[in-house]
Formats: sequence, structure tokens, C-alpha cells
Amino acid sequence: MRILLVATAFNGLCQRLHRELNLSDHLVSVETFRNDEHLIESVTLFSPDIILCPYLKERIPTCIWEKYLCLIVHPGIAGDRGPSSLDWAVSRDVSHWGVTLIQAAEQMDAGDIWGTAGFPMREGSKASIYRREVTRCAVKLVMETVKKIQSGGFRPTPLNYDDPDILGTEMPLMRQQERRIDWNGDTTADIVRKISLSDSFPGVLDHFLQEPVYLYGAKAADRQMPAGKPGDIVSCANGALCLATVDGAVWIRIARRKYGPDNCRIKLPAAQVLSSVLETGGKKPGSLKIDNDAFNDIRSMEYKGVGYLYFDFYNGAMNTDQCRRLQKALRNLKRRPVSVIVLMGGEDFWSNGINLNSIEAAGNQAQYAWDNINAMNDLVREIIDSPRHLMIAAVRCNAGAGGAIMPLACDSVILRDGVVLNPHYGLMGLYGSEYWTYLLPRRVGEGQAEVIMRECMPMLAREALMSGIADDLFDEDWSTYHDSLQRYAEDLAARPKSIKAFLKEKRSRMKADGKIRHLEQYRKEELKHMYESFFDMNSDFHIQRHRFVHKLPSPAPHCRLAIHRPQETGEWNWVSGKEQVLQAG
Ligand code: COA
Repeated sequence: MRILLVATAFNGLCQRLHRELNLSDHLVSVETFRNDEHLIESVTLFSPDIILCPYLKERIPTCIWEKYLCLIVHPGIAGDRGPSSLDWAVSRDVSHWGVTLIQAAEQMDAGDIWGTAGFPMREGSKASIYRREVTRCAVKLVMETVKKIQSGGFRPTPLNYDDPDILGTEMPLMRQQERRIDWNGDTTADIVRKISLSDSFPGVLDHFLQEPVYLYGAKAADRQMPAGKPGDIVSCANGALCLATVDGAVWIRIARRKYGPDNCRIKLPAAQVLSSVLETGGKKPGSLKIDNDAFNDIRSMEYKGVGYLYFDFYNGAMNTDQCRRLQKALRNLKRRPVSVIVLMGGEDFWSNGINLNSIEAAGNQAQYAWDNINAMNDLVREIIDSPRHLMIAAVRCNAGAGGAIMPLACDSVILRDGVVLNPHYGLMGLYGSEYWTYLLPRRVGEGQAEVIMRECMPMLAREALMSGIADDLFDEDWSTYHDSLQRYAEDLAARPKSIKAFLKEKRSRMKADGKIRHLEQYRKEELKHMYESFFDMNSDFHIQRHRFVHKLPSPAPHCRLAIHRPQETGEWNWVSGKEQVLQAG
């Protein structure tokens, strides 16, 4: 079937559906919404059988939904309507939630129902539930429905609130008023819930020293923290701030200023936001206690000869400090009595490479980017240089750019089914580093590496496995994946002879590789390109990063995605992305 994906942004869910539908032999094209006229033109050009909207905030023009079957993926149970579905679901602490496929109609979310599927809710932020449960459920639902439409005869059900199966209702947009923290009344659990249900947008509007800031990434403090009045900032650790509550304390990892200079009004580590508030207010920092042991986004665990290293960085973005801390943590873990080390990444993203927000906010953006990529490279080198350990990358969540290359530094890459990888840099106007010129071709060959970098396409776990990027694929279900992973790692650790033989071979392979070309040579050449992009303030990188960080309208999807507009978007040029920005207007 000809399927047009229409979205506000080509997010993780759209990327996954694009690949899933493609692998099922459908002809899929992508359009990001700009305005009605543009969408009408796309539809006319492509003439789709179905228009599928996995993530669309705008209304579809009447002339389109009257003529074409338009299906909207709604992150709510049947009958649920409104723009804050998941926010309300997390807020009401429901035990089950779901995804419904609704036909576009006059009234938003009130069209015929083409299918609905449910999942048990878990504790977690709205964004996390969207990225895991909603995405998984939506993919299953869409694939089943498309199959039914293809075989013909399937009729949708009109929305009828008298039907006892319709448990949802219409809910309004959740405003800041409903999200607001009452520091003197709310418990730690209430505060964490309010911030979680507002993640990643819009956040909870609160204050640092009377300055309005949005809060994100909250975690309850799991130990006794210095006392303070509820709402007082009482401690600081690894970029996060700890605020006292009526019954304990809460860590806030990320904040965003409501006002202030442009490059401060983006998500940054909360402690950095506090510094910026102090700076613009001409205030001096008080005597805030820094206690890096009290909260850490990096943690390790050892069990049955296996070391697990978790790095749960917000949005998978790794700033210079985080790269350095992670490298140190890995070095420490290597000194422990473990023969197998598993890199676990975060809960929502495995890694998305260098931190574009930190670069944007830096006084000297070029220098920050340079330090960040060097710290990232040092980390990747630390992974490669593990002659006495069998290294496993447990890619249980999506990964992009350098964060999708980093797993390849390990001996074994084990994906969770359904994850989407974007192992390329072109869309950010970069040549890329992280030793990709060594790591990628050795897995997929020179030719395929060049194609991956040039085409800048998302890659589904199954495709990554077929291409050689990964070694194995475990079940998408979170706990099944972890059970299989643990068995796999423990089984290896329980075979010291095999590990010894493997490590011997690994050392001689590294030696042989080094004779052909020294690892530092790859790095040097990659960094030559990166230096040019970073230190030329007019480079594609600075244009693309600024657009990405400030969420300016997405450029048109490139021609491999928007197959209905080949002439307009042109062939993607992997060295220079400027043309694409210019074409996108
Ligand atoms: N630095 C800072 N923030 C990042 C980031 C990075 N490297 N990568 C992702 N994010 C943020 C996004 O801005 C977004 O923020 P939000 O919470 O305010 O919405 C959030 O992470 C989720 O990203 P999103 O793009 O919505 O996720 P996705 O699953 O739809 O797409 C990617 C995944 C990897 C394709 C996309 O995030 C991306 O292109 N990231 C940039 C990767 C990159 O170029 N890294 C640097 C070069 S090494």
C-alpha cells in the first residue's frame, strides 16, 4: 500500500513506523507538517492509500480527510480525547492505559475507531512511557490495522460513549495550574509525579530564587539530605539540584529558564541554570553544599562475574563532564573482579552523543564542542582498549549519532527488538568522530558504511542485525530483554577458558588492526573535519544545532524519506548539509 506518514516532527515513533512499514513491503513517504497548502500538495503528489499520523499536533485540512483515509495515533484508551492524554493518565495514577487509532473527522479525536490496544502502566515519566509502552503498542496496532485494511472488509467502530467498552472521556489541555507544585503541601512522591507527568514538555513551572524556571527529570532523594524549608535548594551533585520537601527531598536534574538570553532558555543541568540565574541577577552563589556522592546518573553493579554500567543521561545527551565521569567509572569497573562488562545506557535512550544543548549554551561554542567530542572520543577509546574484558553493549533504547557508534566499540552488541538506531551525523552537518571510520566499516564493510553515512536513514534493530552492526536481538519486552541479557552475560562469565581464548584473539586482532592503521590516525582524521565544522561559526553544524536545540521548524525530510518530493529535497550530501537547510527555506 502507499502510505504517507504525516508528522509534526519525525520523532522516534515515526522513525520506527517508517521502517516497520517499509520492511512489510509498503511504499512509505514522509511529510512534516508546515501548513495546509504544503500538505495538500504532498497528498496530491503521492496519492496515498492511507495517511498515517503517528505524531501530529496540527489539524488535517477537511479536503484531505474527506477524500483520504487519515488515521491518527492517539496515545490514549478508546474514547479518550484531548491534547494531554498521557499527562492526565500519569496524574491519575491509572493502572492501565492504551493507544487508539482514530480516523480524522470534523471534531478532534472523535472520529471512527480503527483499533485500540492497552498496556499496564508503570511508574515513569510521560516521555518514558511514550518512548516504550506507547511506541510498542502503537506499532503493533498500526501494523495489524494496515493488514486488515489491505485484506478488505474491515469496518471501524463509531465513537459511542454509551458503549461500556469506551472507558475514556474528553479531557482538556492540562495547564501549568494543574501541574504546579505546592511546596508546603505536596509530598516528595506528589512532586516527582507532577514533574514526571510534564516530561519532556512542558515541564513544571517553578522558581529558582524568584526566577521562573521549568523543572524536568525529578527523582526522590534516597538518603537523608541537609535540612531546609520545603522548596529550598539544599544540595548539588553532578549538575543536579536537591530541593527540600515536606517529607524528604527531591533531585531535579534538568531545568529551563522561562526568560533570559536565548541560549539559556533551553534544557540544561539544573545547577547550570541556577548559576545562570545568579549571574543575570548579579547575585553571589550562597554556600550550597556540593556532594557528588549523593546523586549520580552513572552507577555500576556487579553480579556473578559481570559488571553492569548504567548511564542514565537526560535525553541520552552526554556533555563533557558526563563523558569524563563515565570514562572514570568504566576504568574503575575494569579494576573490579569481573571478566564481562555490560554497558547498559539509560532508561529512555542508550546515548545520543555529544550534548547539543550544552554546546548551544556555552560562552565559546566551538571550544565546548571540541572538548565534548574529545571527551567522547576518550570514552570510546577506553571501551576499545579493554584487552582483559569482554565488552557488551546492551542497546535497550534508541541511540543516535556518536551514541549509536559507541556500542560498536564493544565486542558484542545486543539490541532490544524495536529500538531505532541513527548511526550517522550528516543531519547535524557533521562528518562525525568516535572512531566511526574504524568501528563501522569493520562491522559492515567500507561500502555499506559509506551508504549508512550518506543516506542518514533510521535503522530498525532487525535491520541493524542483518547489516552486521549488531550481534543479537532480544525480546522487546523490557523484563524479558533483561532476563535474556543477564543469562547471556552470566553464561559467558561462567566460561573462563572461552573468555581467555576470545581475549587472546581480540588482542592479536587489535594488534593487527593497529599495524594497518593506528587508532589515533582514524581519530586525527575525523577530528580534522570536526574542527572545521566547530570553529567555522557559519558551518552547517552551527546552523543545524541551533535549529535542533531551539526546536525551529524541521527542514523537509530528505529525499529518501519524502519520496514524493525527489526534485525538491535533492540528493542528500553527507559532507555538507547546508544545501538541505537552504532548500528547506
Ligand atoms: N543533545 C541534546 N539534546 C538531545 C540530543 C543531543 N545530542 N539528542 C536528542 N536530544 C533531545 C531532543 O532535543 C529532545 O529534547 P526534548 O526533551 O526537549 O524534546 C529529546 O532529546 C528527544 O529527542 P527527539 O529528537 O525527540 O528523539 P527522537 O527519538 O525523536 O530522535 C534522534 C532521536 C537521535 C534522531 C534525534 O534526537 C537526534 O537527531 N539527536 C541529535 C543527535 C546528534 O546529532 N548528536 C550530536 C552529534 S555526535
